Amino acid sequence: MINIGILGLGTVGSGIIRIFNENSELIKKRIGDKINVKKVLVRDLHKNRDVEIDKNLLTTNPDDVLQDPEIDIVVEVIGGINPALDFVLKAIENKKHVVTANKEMMAKEGWEILTLARKKGVDVYYEASVAGGIPIIRPMKESLTANKIEEILGIINGTTNYILTKMAKEGKEYEDALREAQNLGYAEADPTSDVEGYDARYKLAILATLAFGTKVNVMDIYTEGITRVTKTDIKYAEELGYAIKLLAIGRQRKDGLELRVHPAFIEKNHPLAQVNDVFNGIFIKGNAIGEIMLYGRGAGQMPTASAVVADIIDIIRNIKAGTVNRVVSEYDDYIPVIDMNS
Ligand code: NAP
Ligand code: HSE
Repeated sequence: MINIGILGLGTVGSGIIRIFNENSELIKKRIGDKINVKKVLVRDLHKNRDVEIDKNLLTTNPDDVLQDPEIDIVVEVIGGINPALDFVLKAIENKKHVVTANKEMMAKEGWEILTLARKKGVDVYYEASVAGGIPIIRPMKESLTANKIEEILGIINGTTNYILTKMAKEGKEYEDALREAQNLGYAEADPTSDVEGYDARYKLAILATLAFGTKVNVMDIYTEGITRVTKTDIKYAEELGYAIKLLAIGRQRKDGLELRVHPAFIEKNHPLAQVNDVFNGIFIKGNAIGEIMLYGRGAGQMPTASAVVADIIDIIRNIKAGTVNRVVSEYDDYIPVIDMNS
């Protein structure tokens, strides 16, 4: 039996429990072992939870997870930097493998986290941190690893894509569409991160680090959100044959990396213009594979939990095989990011 501890029981944490409740027999068959959720850290023990869970598993003491020698894997689904980062570093110090969905933490502190993990001989997996349920971190680290990646073009924030779609297709007001995205569990705890483009910036930093083999400082990425996009802009764009989407762009140029996040006109016959609602789409150009596009639900409880549980399963397979996935912190060179303000 493999014991795991979960930090956080909000949208994603509840989805993880739901998958274990529904698919435990199937997962047991696939990995030949049972996954036991031993403790779940929350802020409020008395809050109503919309998932079936033994209340005795809940704790407000992080040490019940981080210091328990029987827990092998710690799953962080709290979000933000503090206290998530402290908890993750402590878990790694205590030689626990980590799975996280936290894009802000991985974008800003991923280098330090992965370096410490390598030193301690444990795995850190973060598939759910970019594009929810779409497999993108694994393809970047594995299937596309033989390529020189030339370009990434992505709609990688579900909340803003939902808002822009509702404004364009149903004439909804920005505020109403944002409220819906929050109610559906797509938005961050503070939705400023979504609508100002910070969430997409974190995700682009993670992707660019993997794609171009360099450490990326999030503050070097030109970022503009959707708060100034109006229904009139969208209407005129439509009339001219374009859709407006929040795009994350990463390109390898001779003089460095071009990294930017901003609303952009996309020709209606481009596949990215067809990516609507909470769906995300990521176009990647590699020098061997050519162009590929990954598409699917980029936010929401179950798609995100699907990616988290897959990471847990991969780590269990590694534990059983006696291996650790080490590729993640071996970045090659420092490549400068071009100043897109000038
Ligand atoms: P959420 O619904 O706000 O849940 C956060 C959970 O963390 C809550 O259960 C909360 O406890 C707990 N928590 C917060 N601060 C805590 C503290 N100081 N100590 C202990 N527990 C604390 O967030 P979420 O939507 O599940 O997102 C979690 C992470 O997944 C974030 O990094 C987010 O960016 C990422 N993510 C989310 C999605 C999505 O679609 N929602 C998709 C991909 C990635 P209480 O319940 O007691 O308040
Ligand atoms: N708030 C994020 C989004 C969650 O809307 O894309 C998924 O990372």
